[in-house]
Amino acid sequence: MSQVRYANLPMVGPTGTGSRSKCQWACGDDCAKEVPNRSGNETFADVVGRTVSRRSLLKGGLGAAMVVSGVLSSTERALAAPGTNGADGRHGGETLGFTPIAPSTADDVEVPEGYDWDLIASWGDPIIAGAPAFDFHTQTADKQAQQFGYNCDWTALFPPRRNGPRTEVGLLWVNHEYTDPGLMFPDYVEGAPTKEQVDIELAAHGGSVLKVNRERGQSSALLPRPQARLNRRITATTPMALTGPAAGSSLLRTGEDATGRQVLGTLNNCGGGATPWGTVLTAEENFNQYFANAPATAENERYGMPTGPSERRWETYYDRFDLAKEPNEAHRFGWIVEVDPYDPDSKPRKRTALGRMKHEGAETSLTADGRVVIYMGDDERFDYLYKFVSDRRFRKGDNAHNRTLLDSGALYVARFDDAPGEPMSTVGDTFAGEWIPLVSGTTSHVRGMSVDEVLVFTRLAADQVGATKMDRPEDVQRNPRNGSWYLMLTNNTSRTESQEDASNPRGPNTFGHVIEMRDRANDGAATRFFWRIFLLCGHPEDPETYFAGYDKSQVSPIGAPDNVVFDRRGNVWIATDGQPSTIFKNDALHAVPVEGPQRGRVQQFLSVPRGAECTEPYFSADGATLIVSVQHPGEGGSLAVPLSNWPDRDDNPARPSVISVWRAARGERRVGA
Ligand code: FEO
Ligand code: CA
Ligand code: CA
Repeated sequence: MSQVRYANLPMVGPTGTGSRSKCQWACGDDCAKEVPNRSGNETFADVVGRTVSRRSLLKGGLGAAMVVSGVLSSTERALAAPGTNGADGRHGGETLGFTPIAPSTADDVEVPEGYDWDLIASWGDPIIAGAPAFDFHTQTADKQAQQFGYNCDWTALFPPRRNGPRTEVGLLWVNHEYTDPGLMFPDYVEGAPTKEQVDIELAAHGGSVLKVNRERGQSSALLPRPQARLNRRITATTPMALTGPAAGSSLLRTGEDATGRQVLGTLNNCGGGATPWGTVLTAEENFNQYFANAPATAENERYGMPTGPSERRWETYYDRFDLAKEPNEAHRFGWIVEVDPYDPDSKPRKRTALGRMKHEGAETSLTADGRVVIYMGDDERFDYLYKFVSDRRFRKGDNAHNRTLLDSGALYVARFDDAPGEPMSTVGDTFAGEWIPLVSGTTSHVRGMSVDEVLVFTRLAADQVGATKMDRPEDVQRNPRNGSWYLMLTNNTSRTESQEDASNPRGPNTFGHVIEMRDRANDGAATRFFWRIFLLCGHPEDPETYFAGYDKSQVSPIGAPDNVVFDRRGNVWIATDGQPSTIFKNDALHAVPVEGPQRGRVQQFLSVPRGAECTEPYFSADGATLIVSVQHPGEGGSLAVPLSNWPDRDDNPARPSVISVWRAARGERRVGA
């Protein structure tokens, strides 16, 4: 798909997403480099030798596809199941309780009429009791370690007391994914940072625990409590433990840690998940960019480790980021990290049983017999979707037991097939899929690889077993109302037409798509699953888009789906990372019914400021407050020529911030329902 098609649409000017700055600091320019997955895993076209491409199917329109040869019928059925078309004349938008907003290029947060928003915390705000106020011109590492970090991402809200009623607020967790030194330091010299600047960056990574509450009798806005006892900053130097089957492996030992069980800090914490036992799972994503001088090995190449200096140059001051000196240090990043938000002294745990990759998220569910299931995307072009299933069962209230659940289990990778699956209730026909085991407990299922090798080099293990190469698997989460999982696939402009397959049907995939999937018998323990395309994103005028069969004249444009959450009714809410470079509007939050006559009706709820990404939304358990993380406002600009000055509107640069959104009208208590 060429962006030229949309040349007549208004543009936002220099954008953040897709800009040099975004790519440089978010993922170390990965998209400008060669695709790291050069395994022989087959695309769909390889498998069936198809002569009619998905592209021609899509270009011909789904109606035309009805008469294409029978070999395509399962695709047609998967894309346009009967009974899912929204052409019922009900286009009022009342179902979701708001009137959709227009896509925007404004340098502000915009929400529908009747809703309001306010800041909870911005980069530099005091978190720990006694922390100094933010002063852009006198920032130090010591101050930063007590203040809200940079580039907020995934959020979660917990009750104020462990095992308290879920409807009470709360303790807020916020990921701090990465830093953009060009927008943080007025005197930053690229390639030659000062040690203090590097130390500030280390302290601005990680996460924050921040007590929040509501003003009694007032709105559902969340107010920060910066002096609270449980408030905590976790950074890139916080001591952590490596646990699970790979802990202690020779692959994880370094000069500083002969045990292979202790590591300093967490990096590039993107998405995450909240466990039923009240802990945070925070996902280490683009960890490769922090390291330099990687030895030329197949493993380092597969993970995109830089062979020369890093962009950030942390290795100038800290040997552990120089892989020529500490070749195993990078093996200690790229994990799911479990944090107890109720104990500020607790040591975070990197759970090796869940594999090492560019983890995007880690939302949990339970199998029919009470074990923990976590679907996990590896956010890279042509990488895979994984699933972890614990050996032991969740026990309500038994926190000591539950904290062991993620150290033993089975790790699977997904293969999406082009064979008919079982019908999904309410949405019709599907394709089939298979969860391929990589590790079960202490047994490796991958020829020539031990358990610790599979867990440390998970990508290489998955390459061997025929997993399906996906278009950047990002967040994936289970809909609590219907049990299906919804997988966000952001984009993949490197996929060619000949590489199109049933589950990734557009090459290049500029706008991303969404797959809905369900384990057999709706039980996460199953090794068979069923799936179908839910959305093919883009501008609705584009004939290659698909909105679950809904009337395209009634939907909002959407590009680059990234994070996902569900409201109390089971509507899916999708946050984007890349609309400025795809539909030429600011990134946004969209809500979409997944069942009923409005299934597939994408409606934009919120727009973030210029250069910003709309990262993980999160609903309070009572549905009255929506939390949104506004990441990298102003990215793509510079301090000299800013793209944004949100939210302060003064001499401060734009500051990444977490906001709360609530329904302002009297008597209306829920967001989006
Ligand atoms: Fe940090 Fe895949 O987004
Ligand atoms: Ca993300
Ligand atoms: Ca999510």
